[in-house]
Amino acid sequence: MSQEFLDLPQLVSAAGSVRLPGSKSISNRVLLLAALADGVTEVRDLLASDDTERMLDALKTLGVGVEALGGEAWKITGCAGRFPVKQAELFLGNAGTAFRPLTAALALAGGDYVLKGVARMHERPIGDLVDGLRQLGADVTYLGNDGYPPLQLRPASIQPGGVVKVRGDVSSQFLTGLLMALPLTGETVAVDVVGELISKPYIEITLATMARFGVIVERDGWQRFTVRAGSRYVSPGTVYVEGDASSASYFLALGAIGGGPLRVEGVGRDSIQGDVKFAEALAQMGAVIETGPNWMEAKAPAGGLVAVDLDCNHIPDAAMTLATAALFAQGTTTLRNIASWRVKETDRIAAMATELRKLGAGVEEGADFIRITPSTVKPAAIDTYDDHRMAMCFSLAAFATPLRINDPKCVAKTFPDYFERFATVTRAAPVIAIDGPSASGKGTVAARVAAALGFAYLDSGALYRLTALAAQRAGVAWTDEAAVAAIAARLDVVFTESDIRLDGVPVGDAIRTEAMSSGASQVAALPAVREALLFRQRAFNTAPGLVGDGRDMGSVIFPRAPLKVFLTASAEARAERRYKQLIDKGFSANLADLLSDLRQRDERDSQRSVAPLRQEADARLLDTTHLTIEQAVKQVLDWATEALQ
Ligand code: DC
Repeated sequence: MSQEFLDLPQLVSAAGSVRLPGSKSISNRVLLLAALADGVTEVRDLLASDDTERMLDALKTLGVGVEALGGEAWKITGCAGRFPVKQAELFLGNAGTAFRPLTAALALAGGDYVLKGVARMHERPIGDLVDGLRQLGADVTYLGNDGYPPLQLRPASIQPGGVVKVRGDVSSQFLTGLLMALPLTGETVAVDVVGELISKPYIEITLATMARFGVIVERDGWQRFTVRAGSRYVSPGTVYVEGDASSASYFLALGAIGGGPLRVEGVGRDSIQGDVKFAEALAQMGAVIETGPNWMEAKAPAGGLVAVDLDCNHIPDAAMTLATAALFAQGTTTLRNIASWRVKETDRIAAMATELRKLGAGVEEGADFIRITPSTVKPAAIDTYDDHRMAMCFSLAAFATPLRINDPKCVAKTFPDYFERFATVTRAAPVIAIDGPSASGKGTVAARVAAALGFAYLDSGALYRLTALAAQRAGVAWTDEAAVAAIAARLDVVFTESDIRLDGVPVGDAIRTEAMSSGASQVAALPAVREALLFRQRAFNTAPGLVGDGRDMGSVIFPRAPLKVFLTASAEARAERRYKQLIDKGFSANLADLLSDLRQRDERDSQRSVAPLRQEADARLLDTTHLTIEQAVKQVLDWATEALQ
């Protein structure tokens, strides 16, 4: 898994409007049926994502005419049920919506094919679909474990007509795959569903899409589906793919938590996707929902969200969004009938439980349910398990706390620019970044500005000083990068109103000595130490706002800070201030030594290769050589009034 991460500040509000990317479920169904159809289909608003790319690549390999028209439009020249390439090996990544239907279509198409995916795809069951295909006479071999991909498909004589039994209680994609492939047999075939059919709305999408391409499935409730002999797919000309209703869930939840109104465009009342019912679930939590034919909008309720106890069988994917929305609901939320979560991109019940617990929530999980009780949320680094929905769901938690999302690029499976859109409709708790050299007075100014605005205050230099102190106490040399970084990562510090506690004990002035100033400057030059302290600093970015002081607040830690100040003073003025400070605290001091030490530290802080001290292009310069503290504070507050509007 990639080591990349995305740090989210705490959010204060969400509102605006988002045009959704195309539905994954509809996109891949439309592509396959367009490929199997007679005629040319122009597919518009197709989802651009990993899963659709896997399908497009597979179709190209099979000899189907696939042409990009630009702007999410594609021209597919159908093969009228006969793929030109009769022998191929296909790699389908982790795309279930490509793997299952292609398995069915290729098993009945009369060629020699191997279908493979990523390791997780090889852990996702496909036995029920294969059993159904074998009843029709298909020749399918498991190349790995029985019941799981990879698969080998060989030409076989498909038996005429009859009834196929398929289980419906593990994944509805088996029934979807079978139904879409049945016209290839040329016979009348009935499919009987064994067991309770889950995720019924996805079958509705399948039937609606097949109808669009001219094949009407006769149905007897949710028990029996019949495709008549002579059914064949015919291109409808142009097909527009609806916006993705599952993707809509994140933005609707953001509106419900963060105020709103937040509108999603591309899916609404007239949608064929079952996940639009997510809006009803959110309304049960108290959200104010409005819908139009192809849009939906959510607002927060006056009294806040409330917990629900819900059967989520009809919205398996969007229900994940309810799990993180539950962090903001009063009471305990129970999501039931979600066993299918366990066989998705990851075991989503286990993954959801583990990550919600990291944030401090109380979680109970069972074979087919999850129960969430919110509590005080704490910053955490969230793992995403190569599961796009985990990454998107946990972005909501940023309303409770700053957090880190590991491997955020996994959203590419269905929503490559999710976090960019997320940023356009949310407002983060603002940061005032104050950087400058030692003893410039930035600490005093920053603390007073924070108090005046009611913001949190981060003395980032203290973290380097504490690291130096903890290293010294542990007998670790300040030059031992790996060992000091390990200490920085584990640093047990608590900042309170009156003091700083290291390992539970107030440190007092022990971090303010000249020795610790020098130690801090040395450990701060070590890249691994800076990396270890990165998220710890960003975790201070809470509502209603933060004032941070240091050397790299504006350049590295909070590059998006709406106000950056470079606060400095002449070396002589700074040495004199430090001299007075030390004398006041009862330390002995020598002005000339202080001046030379200060120059040495300035040199090290500004010449080091990582995060050197420098004035950012977008930082405002505040030279305090001839200013009182009050004057400096007033200047920063004036700038803040302007910048934080
Ligand atoms: O601001 P201060 O004097 O307490 O900082 C102590 C040392 O830590 C100083 O030598 C520079 C370093 N530091 C840093 O590299 N980056 C920061 N954001 C803050 C401090």
